[in-house]
Amino acid sequence: MADDVLAQFTPEAQAVKQSTGKKLKVGIIGTGWIAESHIQSYKRMEDVEVVAAADLIPGKAEAFMKQWGVDGVRFYPDHLAMLEAEKDLDAVSVCTYNTTHAVCTIDALNRGVSVLLEKPMCVTTQEAIDICRAEKASGKVLSIGFQPRFDVNMQMIKKIVNSGELGDIYYIQTGGGRRRGIPNSTFIEQKTAGIGALGDIGCYSLDVVLNAIGYPKPLTVSGYTSAFFGPNPLYNNPADAARFDVDDFAAAFVRLEGGIILDFRIAWAMHVDTPGDSILFGTKGALRIPSTDCWNGSVGGAMTLYHDVAGERAETQIPILQNDPKKGGLFDQKIRSFLDAVLEGGTSPVPARQILHNQAILDGILQSSKQGREITIDLPDEI
Ligand SMILES: NC(=O)c1ccc[n+]([C@@H]2O[C@H](COP(=O)([O-])OP(=O)(O)OC[C@H]3O[C@@H](n4cnc5c(N)ncnc54)[C@H](O)[C@@H]3O)[C@@H](O)[C@H]2O)c1
Repeated sequence: MADDVLAQFTPEAQAVKQSTGKKLKVGIIGTGWIAESHIQSYKRMEDVEVVAAADLIPGKAEAFMKQWGVDGVRFYPDHLAMLEAEKDLDAVSVCTYNTTHAVCTIDALNRGVSVLLEKPMCVTTQEAIDICRAEKASGKVLSIGFQPRFDVNMQMIKKIVNSGELGDIYYIQTGGGRRRGIPNSTFIEQKTAGIGALGDIGCYSLDVVLNAIGYPKPLTVSGYTSAFFGPNPLYNNPADAARFDVDDFAAAFVRLEGGIILDFRIAWAMHVDTPGDSILFGTKGALRIPSTDCWNGSVGGAMTLYHDVAGERAETQIPILQNDPKKGGLFDQKIRSFLDAVLEGGTSPVPARQILHNQAILDGILQSSKQGREITIDLPDEI
């Protein structure tokens, strides 16, 4: 699976914007699978020096840097040892599994280090609030690792909404997933992942539509989660089935500020090819975004805009747009945009303040499902 997925982020060109003369000192926290994409991108950035790496598994960070041919790196047994010893780090990539996202990010921000944090932002809403507070207190840059944001097709969805073609959005259905596509490794246990399909790919489906409509606050969630495939050796290999204890399917009905309803479904496995396309229903038009299996969370094909033209019902195809190879791959753009914000003191390319709402929906679905009823989401106003 790793090669298939990572291949989608392989840049076709090296011509990524390079910045001023300063070399940024970067550390990598967690040297597992996704750290491979981070190190490859950093190696392509002339203004970056990767100076430190930490991993809980003895020898893993050392082997990782050797594999990627990066010399002169100092190694640490965990993120805290690294942050305590490295006094002049400019930034870190937090590439740990979900359950240590919050602690690594907050500890880095508290020491004045900017953070590129992998998705999902964390596990619970409270962790997301704590991360936002730490970011605010630090004055540093925190960006969340949603590389589909840099896909021109995803950007087109936002442009269509902003153009007014759809009028006022009142209802959205979104989601996606795979007939069979359960990951393994640290993705399938509470102790490391904390959330299953919801956190892994649900966060992408939410981001596609919530980013387009300006990330309104979630107010209530009625959620459902299940796991009929992951723990079943008929659908998963027996060793992984035995340790599987997260969700592999989730659905929800969410009320958003502004009277907008969000209807959501996500699956790592199911007996159907898709739980449905994403559709934005507006007062003047509607946009259908073909479903995707969510490996990278953007669009699954040409989109259709439904609208009235001169009083007659019409459909306009929005063809798939090609990303500009001169900008590099989506992953490089995610890293570059973060580095530029650090260098230039700019705003975060994927702000935590937005993704807080994404995380509150994910956690809200889990909490609602556990309690068997609709729950209210309370987010503090000051962040
Ligand atoms: N953006 C993407 O496309 C994408 C793709 C895959 C995974 N991810 C995300 O990346 C994250 C990591 O996934 P992965 O598959 O690389 O996980 P992984 O289990 O392969 O690697 C995580 C590593 O972090 C280390 N670690 C955990 N806590 C630590 C700490 N406090 N200090 C130092 N090291 C620590 C672990 O020992 C482990 O080696 C997940 O949150 C996942 O959702 C993002």
